[in-house]
Formats: sequence, structure tokens, C-alpha cells
Amino acid sequence: MPKPIMNLLPIAAFLWIYLTSQWVVATPLRATVLRGQAAIKPEYDYVIVGGGTAGLTVGDRLSESGKYSVLVLEHGKLDNQNGFPFEGINSSRVFNLTSVPQSALNNRAFWVGIGKVVGGGSNVNGQVFLRGTKEEYDIWKQLGGASSTWDWNGMLPYFKKGIYFTPPDAGMAQEFNVTYDPSVWGQDSQTKVFATYSNSYSPIMKLMYSAMKNMPGVVVPKDGAAGTNGLFWFTTSMDPKTFLRSYSRTGHWDGLNRASYELSPETKVTKLTFEGSDVTGVEFTAASGGSVQRVRARKEVILAAGAIHSPQILQLSGIGPKKLLDDAKIPIKVELPGVGSNFQDHNYISSVSYQWGRQPSPPPLNHTIPTGGTNPVLGSFIGLPAVSPSNFTVIAQKYANQDPAAYLPPFTHSTVLAGYAAQKSLWARAMLSPGVTFFQYMINASPTFGSPQNLHPMSRGTVAINPANPSGSMVVDYRGLSNPIDLDIMVEILKFVRRYMTAGELAQYAAVESVPGPAYNTDEKLATWARGQINPSAFHPVGTTAMMRRELGGVVDDDLLVYGVKRLSVVDAGIMPTTLGATPCMTVYAIAEKAADLIKERA
Ligand SMILES: Cc1cc2nc3c(=O)[nH]c(=O)nc-3n(C[C@H](O)[C@H](O)[C@H](O)COP(=O)(O)OP(=O)(O)OC[C@H]3O[C@@H](n4cnc5c(N)ncnc54)[C@H](O)[C@@H]3O)c2cc1C
Ligand SMILES: *[C@@H]1O[C@H](CO)[C@@H](O)[C@H](O)[C@H]1NC(C)=O
Ligand SMILES: *[C@@H]1O[C@H](CO)[C@@H](O)[C@H](O)[C@H]1NC(C)=O
Ligand SMILES: *[C@@H]1O[C@H](CO)[C@@H](O)[C@H](O)[C@H]1NC(C)=O
Ligand SMILES: *[C@@H]1O[C@H](CO)[C@@H](O)[C@H](O)[C@H]1NC(C)=O
Ligand SMILES: *[C@@H]1O[C@H](CO)[C@@H](O)[C@H](O)[C@H]1NC(C)=O
Repeated sequence: MPKPIMNLLPIAAFLWIYLTSQWVVATPLRATVLRGQAAIKPEYDYVIVGGGTAGLTVGDRLSESGKYSVLVLEHGKLDNQNGFPFEGINSSRVFNLTSVPQSALNNRAFWVGIGKVVGGGSNVNGQVFLRGTKEEYDIWKQLGGASSTWDWNGMLPYFKKGIYFTPPDAGMAQEFNVTYDPSVWGQDSQTKVFATYSNSYSPIMKLMYSAMKNMPGVVVPKDGAAGTNGLFWFTTSMDPKTFLRSYSRTGHWDGLNRASYELSPETKVTKLTFEGSDVTGVEFTAASGGSVQRVRARKEVILAAGAIHSPQILQLSGIGPKKLLDDAKIPIKVELPGVGSNFQDHNYISSVSYQWGRQPSPPPLNHTIPTGGTNPVLGSFIGLPAVSPSNFTVIAQKYANQDPAAYLPPFTHSTVLAGYAAQKSLWARAMLSPGVTFFQYMINASPTFGSPQNLHPMSRGTVAINPANPSGSMVVDYRGLSNPIDLDIMVEILKFVRRYMTAGELAQYAAVESVPGPAYNTDEKLATWARGQINPSAFHPVGTTAMMRRELGGVVDDDLLVYGVKRLSVVDAGIMPTTLGATPCMTVYAIAEKAADLIKERA
């Protein structure tokens, strides 16, 4: 196993706590239309690049009327295993990609975790199924055009359409205060991507819940998916009847019987084809290599190759930053400096651990705990004012005072810089708002393996083809902690965890900190430790084909069409202009549902 992959193990262990062994159960192959590459026709209405989370969702919606023919080209296999990737990190279902060494993280390099399988990230992810807050989606609209509909109100109908919600077991809900707001969820019988609560709860969680609830500034929303944050029980992407993983393949491919919807797995798209500024189709090879073939798209090519590889296809096709394309000797089709810039992810420390000095006794329960499903999923999602009541204004002011260019990569184009400056003024304000989730902390019955995350890093990285070997692997540079404010925020997060575990209601259990340990007793010492521990990616890359105005370094407009060409859209996680205070998968489904409506409108 290459060394960087080792960095995954702590979070794997952490996530594993929440998951049962459901991943070993195979699902029957029920796809009715599956062609080998030789069977790919010369032309379709729509050609979708990437059969991952967004790609299969859009493919299903465009093919459902029967009016349009749709082809999905997917690099990975149609893999009959349904599940979690950590059965020894199954290299057949993820890309083998490592970041460049991160200079602000003691030169550590990191595994770039992304799915390479039919279903993409939704097949290999941790099934944590969350939405961001209203304020976070509203930031997107402010970076878009004057009539942008990409805000909370514009997303909500697509969350309802895209996801089928099942309420929690009534007894458990009463016992553990699992509250929810049916008005923000959908139950469309046509929807087969499921959001489901766990059925197994440890009584100790009640103590952890109560202690977190009573931390200053922490609130309990009725439903964490309703646009505000706080402490809440959340859903996972799980079938409510079988408790198996629910993902884009089970939701948008299996069981469909449509002559007009075709999928070609193990097929790698290499670039776009053009007539003038019209995108006419794509070139592809078998995943194992071999001769280049072409397929035409009568209406549109839809990029859904994810936040790392949609930029790759754009850059290889001559759509990207001028200097990069010049260096790689690729003729410029459209100078679009934002392609591969504005790269963001969540950052986290995989293990902050305590041991009880006095073991808490489990409170008695009045209700029988039903079986089935993942282990309990309770999280605290809070803004900077609650993370650091004493320092949040100082941090926000410090960030506001930065020169926007100070920590961006060298050669950053003026439009990309303008985009960051616009984001920066929004985030400096967001740091003052309780309703923007900077800190995510999954809460378990055990005090070990806490994994605090900063959900809004202000550092910006890049993804780029390698000029010396353009058709090789992408060069992924998170530029983790390149903006020092991210370290200040992590230090405040660590101090919050310490207050939670050792002061307040949990003080009676006399927890002893084992990692990092009581010797790290100043901000400076914590910062030094964190620099050696922070992982710049929680496998949630976004922002590299951002939906922003072109003068802000945007790559797609509010219709998700790529600037400067015709008949080309991007529909994957890369279009999110900024991170959300939530794992991204549910939002990717909603974006794809909205994208499908936009594409049908212009058909
Ligand atoms: C290990 C891991 C854990 C995660 N945990 C969570 C979690 O618990 N909760 C959550 O919400 N999110 C989680 N995520 C993130 C989430 O799964 C992703 O954000 C989401 O699935 C991205 O969807 P997408 O459609 O943008 O891309 P993907 O689903 O990655 O789809 C892109 C597809 O394009 C294919 N592709 C790439 N290049 C080409 C090419 N040239 N030709 C053809 N096909 C190509 C890829 O093989 C892939 O299948 C996790 C991700 C990983 C990897
Ligand atoms: C990895 O996935 C492949 C393809 O589905 C499968 O054949 C293999 O058994 C898996 N490996 C492990 C260790 O689970
Ligand atoms: C991943 O790529 C590296 C080279 O970059 C190689 O040494 C390693 O064997 C590959 N691992 C797998 C599982 O393919
Ligand atoms: C459990 O039962 C006791 C006694 O009937 C009651 O006071 C309490 O509210 C119940 N708790 C829950 C969570 O149902
Ligand atoms: C239960 O959740 C509601 C929000 O739906 C919250 O207002 C209330 O304080 C919670 N009750 C307990 C006992 O934690
Ligand atoms: C936060 O507050 C502490 C004192 O409580 C101080 O030492 C530290 O420098 C502050 N951090 C920042 C980033 O201002």
C-alpha cells in the first residue's frame, strides 16, 4: 500500500464506527441496458461523461420521457459490490491519485479519495447524508448572475424531488429526541435515493447529546436539513427496508427498462470534439487504453466526471488557464482561467481522543431499540461564534484585513483573484454568523477517535494537467493551510473539543485527553501539532468548475453552461462555488436534478 493511502485509515476507522458490515452484501444486477464499447452508436442526443453521482441522476431524468437518447461513459466498472471502500481500500473502485506534497502541512502528501466505479463517490462514500445551511447556499447566489436561482429557496424543491425521506422509528425518536420537519423533505414514489435514520442508538449518546446541547451557543434545530444548524441526529444514504447503501446506481440505474438510456463502463473520455465553438461530442478509449473512438452529441455534452476530472477534460480540450495550456502545448480553444482553480475541500484531524476517568453509566431506556441500519449518527454543526465565543470576532477581523491576493497561488489570473476577493468579503461576514457551519463534530458514545472538521477552509488550491505529461494523472494541490486563518480556526476547534470533553456536563467523568494530550496547553503548541495532523481533504472536493460570473473566474453560468463554447455543461460537485457546512453528496443529487430540468428546458 503506498504511504499516502495510510492517511485514510484513521478516518476509515472513524467512519467504520458508524457503519455495519452491509458492504459485503451484493445486489443483483438489474440494469436492463448495458453495452460494450463496440456497441456504442455514432450519435446520441446527450452524451454524459462520468456515471457517478451526478451523471447517473441526470441520465435517468433525461431518458425518462423516452424522447431523448442518452449515453453515459464511465471510467470505472459496473461493480456488483455495494458498499464501503475500506475492505482494504479496494483499488478497483477508486482512483490511484496522490496530491503534491503540502508545504504548509509539513510536506505531507495525501491520497486523493474519489470513486471510479458506476455510482462514483456515492458508491464508496461514508453515507453521511446532510445539507448545508440556508446562508451557505445563499452565498452561491451572490457569486452568480443577477437572476441566479442557486440559493436555498432554489435548491429546496430539488432536495425534495431528489431524495425520499423515511422518518425515524417513533420510539427511538421519542427516546433520543430525533426531531424532523416533514415540510423540507420529499416522498415522491418515483424517487429511489433514500435518506434514512439509523435504528441503533447507545444510551450513552444521551449524555453526550445533553452535554453538547448545553455548550454555550449550541442550539438544537428541529431538523438539520431545514436550513439551520446545531446539534442534531442526521440521515444516511441507506435503503429503509434493506438497510443497504442507497446510491446513484440503485437510485438511477438498476431496474430501469429504457431502450434510450445506455451506459458504457470501463470507458475513459479523453477530450471534447468541436465544430467552431460548438461542442459536438467526445473522444474516448477503453479504460485499459487502445484506439481512440468518437461519439457525437446532437444536443449537448454533459460533464459529470467530478471535481478533479471534469477540469481535466476541459483542460485537455483547450479550455482553461492560458499559461497552463501554453506550457502543455495545447491549442487554446477558450481562455478560461477558472478551470481547476478555486479548489476547496473540508479539512480535518482524524483523531482527537479521550479516555473516561469515570465510566458514565447508561441511562435506562423506555423503548425497545429496533435493529437494522448503521450505527447512530449524531453530529454537532456549529458556527464560529459558538466554536470560539471569545475569539471569533478577532478571527473574522483578521481575515477581513487580509489582502485577497496574499495567499493565492502565483500567476493567479485577475478574474480568479476578483472571485476570491468577492468570496472573501462574504466569508468574513459568515464567520460572524451562528448559521454558517465552520465546525463539524460527529458524536459517539465513545470518547476516542473524535474527528473534528473545519468545513470552510479559506485556502484555495488547484487541479491541473501535468504540462510535462498532459494525458497522465492530474496534479492535485490542495494548498492546505496556505491561508493561515485555517490554522487559527482549527486551534479554536481543538479548544472547543477540550471544553466539551472536560468542562461542562461531561466534567463529572474526568476525561483524560490522550491525543493530542494535556502537554499541548497553549494555542501555539496546538497549532504546531495541528499542522502535522490536518488532512486537507475529507474527500469532498468542490469549486474547480465554479458556477460564478465569468469576471469572477467562473467556469459555468447559472444554466451550468461552460463559458465561451456552446452545447457543453458541467453538472458535478465541481460547480459548487464554495464549500458547504455539510458533506456534499445530497447536494450533488439536488444539483443534478436541477441541472436535468435546465437541460430539458433548453432541449
Ligand atoms: C471515500 C469517500 C468518502 C466520502 N464520504 C462522504 C459522505 O459520507 N457523505 C457525503 O455526502 N459525501 C461523501 N463523499 C463525497 C461524495 O461522495 C462526492 O462529493 C460525490 O459523490 C461527488 O459526486 P460527483 O457526481 O461530483 O462525482 P463522482 O460521483 O465522483 O462521479 C464522477 C465519475 O466520473 C468518472 N470519471 C472520471 N473521469 C472520467 C473520464 N475521463 N471518463 C469517464 N468517466 C470518468 C469517475 O470514475 C466517477 O465515477 C465521500 C467521497 C469519498 C471518495
Ligand atoms: C475489490 O473489488 C473487486 C471488483 O469488484 C473484487 O473482485 C474484489 O474481491 C474486491 N477486493 C476486496 C479485497 O474486497
Ligand atoms: C498507484 O500508483 C503508484 C505510482 O504513482 C504505483 O506505484 C502503485 O503501485 C499504484 N497502486 C495501485 C494499487 O495501482
Ligand atoms: C420514560 O419513562 C418515564 C416514566 O414513565 C418518563 O417520565 C419519561 O419521560 C420517559 N422518557 C422518554 C424519553 O420517553
Ligand atoms: C429536542 O429537540 C428540540 C428541537 O426539535 C429542541 O428544541 C429541544 O430542546 C430538544 N429537547 C431535548 C430534551 O433535548
Ligand atoms: C485567541 O484567544 C487567545 C486568548 O484566549 C489568544 O491567546 C489567541 O491569540 C487568540 N487567537 C487569535 C487567532 O486571535
